[in-house]
Amino acid sequence: MIRSIITGTGSALPVRRVSNAELAETVDTTDEWIVERTGIRFRHIAGPDETTATLAADACRAALSAAGRSAQDIDLIVLATATPDQTFPASATKVQAMLGIDDCVAFDVAAVCSGFLYAVQVVDSMIRAGVHKCALVIGAETFSRILDWEDRTTCVLFGDGAGAIVLEAEESTGRVGGERGILATKLHADGRHNELLYVDGGPSTTGTVGKVRMKGREVFRHAVVNLATVMGESLAAAGLSADDVDWVVPHQANARILDATARKLGLASEKVVVTVDQHANTSAASVPLALDTAVRDGRIKPGQLIVLEAMGGGFTWGAAVVRL
Ligand code: COA
Repeated sequence: MIRSIITGTGSALPVRRVSNAELAETVDTTDEWIVERTGIRFRHIAGPDETTATLAADACRAALSAAGRSAQDIDLIVLATATPDQTFPASATKVQAMLGIDDCVAFDVAAVCSGFLYAVQVVDSMIRAGVHKCALVIGAETFSRILDWEDRTTCVLFGDGAGAIVLEAEESTGRVGGERGILATKLHADGRHNELLYVDGGPSTTGTVGKVRMKGREVFRHAVVNLATVMGESLAAAGLSADDVDWVVPHQANARILDATARKLGLASEKVVVTVDQHANTSAASVPLALDTAVRDGRIKPGQLIVLEAMGGGFTWGAAVVRL
């Protein structure tokens, strides 16, 4: 039996870091409102030379180095993003070229904020099927490019960044609980909720890129219920319970969602990795960025059991149970 294991993590952020106070100079908002309602204090905003693909490539270089792998070892690149450099080709192929890889499989996955979870399940399935052996799984976004900077209900919430993991095939004994690697994944989508969180443009409709539109309060309600449920489902699929979890690495949308979801699952808030204060909501980048942050600062240690979770536009949502 083959299992896919995380052998390295990496991340990258744009150089420019913007505080709530700086935003309040041009947007009708305050530091107090943003911190109280969301927990966000800073976000990084990409400059003209920084794109989804350049941030993704930087995150990949860090992940490859952590895994002790070279770019030539990679046979698959899957990049989750809602803000590709071009409508086509896939930004994964740009990353491939930037890393100097002549030939591998490379494509993008679009599931907005849960894109990284979707990418993990796709790659895990391909590795366990024996088709690929060493993959880069990336979440990368430049959401600042699709924000309406005059809409204070959305523009204060998002930021730019990238996170990546190296996922490799390893022979497994089939003992689910104690082994390292991806132990279970669970994904969902419900397309009836399109109008609660969407972009008002696209190549096939308006011919424009469009801007983010969101009914925040309704998204909030769905998020807490869906995330707690899907975490429970993924743990059950792995034959584990909330008591076994060392860390939850959640999608970093809003500190209040993180607290409410952990409470619903009976998890202590000390077990939740929180980076939303520093990065805001970086959509598909948020989970791998938070994971890399907590691995590098020593919070998450080898052998620990972690649950990754996210929800985003669609709605789409999902969770993965992983032993590092
Ligand atoms: N600064 C100051 N005031 C603001 C503001 C801002 N940036 N944005 C909204 N407000 C105002 C509203 O206009 C409203 O004023 P009113 O009562 O006079 O109409 C008031 O604050 C409350 O707005 P409301 O939308 O009810 O606030 P909220 O407590 O629901 O918080 C969100 C708003 C967006 C922070 C919250 O709903 C949320 O986080 N939702 C989930 C978003 C999310 O996670 N999205 C991504 C999922 S991938």
